[in-house]
Amino acid sequence: MMRKLKNILITGGCGFIGSNFIRYLFAQPNFHGKVINLDELTYAGNLENLIDIANQYEGNRYFFIKGNICNFDLVKQIFQDYEVDTVVHFAAESHVDRSILGPADFIQTNINGTFTLLEAARVTWTEEKKNGCLFYHISTDEVYGSLGQTGFFSEDTPYRPNSPYSASKAASDHLVRAYYKTYGLPVIISNCTNNYGPYQFPEKLIPLTILNAFEGKPIPVYGKGENIRDWIYVEDHCEAVWLLLQKGKIGEQYNIGGANERRNIDVVRLICNLLDEIVGPLSSGPRENLITFVKDRPGHDFRYAMNIAKIKSTLGWRPKTEFKLGLTKTINWYLNHKDWVERIKSGEYQKWVETFYGETKHAF
Ligand code: NAD
Ligand code: DAU
Repeated sequence: MMRKLKNILITGGCGFIGSNFIRYLFAQPNFHGKVINLDELTYAGNLENLIDIANQYEGNRYFFIKGNICNFDLVKQIFQDYEVDTVVHFAAESHVDRSILGPADFIQTNINGTFTLLEAARVTWTEEKKNGCLFYHISTDEVYGSLGQTGFFSEDTPYRPNSPYSASKAASDHLVRAYYKTYGLPVIISNCTNNYGPYQFPEKLIPLTILNAFEGKPIPVYGKGENIRDWIYVEDHCEAVWLLLQKGKIGEQYNIGGANERRNIDVVRLICNLLDEIVGPLSSGPRENLITFVKDRPGHDFRYAMNIAKIKSTLGWRPKTEFKLGLTKTINWYLNHKDWVERIKSGEYQKWVETFYGETKHAF
């Protein structure tokens, strides 16, 4: 059965995945509903990410509200005013290194914020009203902890988060599950691997590498660069979320992944080589020369890899974008959006770079 989605509250819609998802949603011919985007516009949120959508749909099918998911009165009011029947909850503090330097915001937004949204849904979606409603929680593979050279995370793998970020996401997943079990709140949780693509804030490995490599700056690789991540193109993640929203089973958890495991060093080398091909090498030589091994991340998870059999067999979904193609598209997007990048590199971003990479003596 296909779920009809009318009034969707999307949290964190101005961030990387949220903005890609909203654009994806409005491109679906069978989506006729409204989107209410609640975003606090932290350093990671950028209204510019959705300027095309706002121009086309604002006040009609798209409504932006600047606000905090921890504000219960605001969230409850939004549920009532817009007759929200679906929540897609992206809003979070999302950067592992920031969570190591200062965990407080992660606890506040990721745990208390999720709790606040769940409470607003619980009091609004009464027994009579909750039929057809859905609280969809976006989560991460990092809740499962770290793998060795072999094995995969499945939906039954016990949670073993290792960073303040992943611990806060794990706590939020547990709350969502508890609201289903205890109150019968209609929920779905999905846990996805590392996303890459347009609009990602340049603190994360792939955009940071693209920009530094392009500009001829050092490319910091933690430890020996042997840690492994499973990379998925953001549009493939959006497609999985869209399918699950329509056809996912209430109360279930689904793993989403790119089936694309890579060592960090290989990802960085590939970006360097692709950039050399696209814009030509630097006068000083190939961009690989910029790779600089730096102090490792404390508690650095070695490997993430997902068993995605469940979503494959139940929904027929699989990741489509081949890595080299997705990376090329991503590189070209950053090269064609230099103004976006310049504006992102605000005072706040610079401050972060100085605080964090200052310790590792890099000239960013
Ligand atoms: P992001 O950091 O790019 O965006 C987060 C957004 O949330 C920003 O727009 C920010 O302004 C907003 N926000 C933060 N705190 C808020 C608050 N208190 N109230 C309202 N809005 C707030 O994050 P992302 O990379 O797009 O990740 C989105 C979600 O997907 C997160 O829940 C993250 O845990 C999850 N996830 C991310 C990845 C990935 O690789 N990026 C992979 C799996 C899961
Ligand atoms: O796995 C899903 C997660 O992926 C999401 O839940 C997080 O929100 C998202 O930020 C991402 O977390 P990671 O820590 O895996 O992503 P990041 O891009 O920060 O780092 C990827 C890998 O690259 C990781 O092993 C650390 C390494 N790294 C990262 C940076 C920023 C470097 O070697 N150098 C760097 O400068």
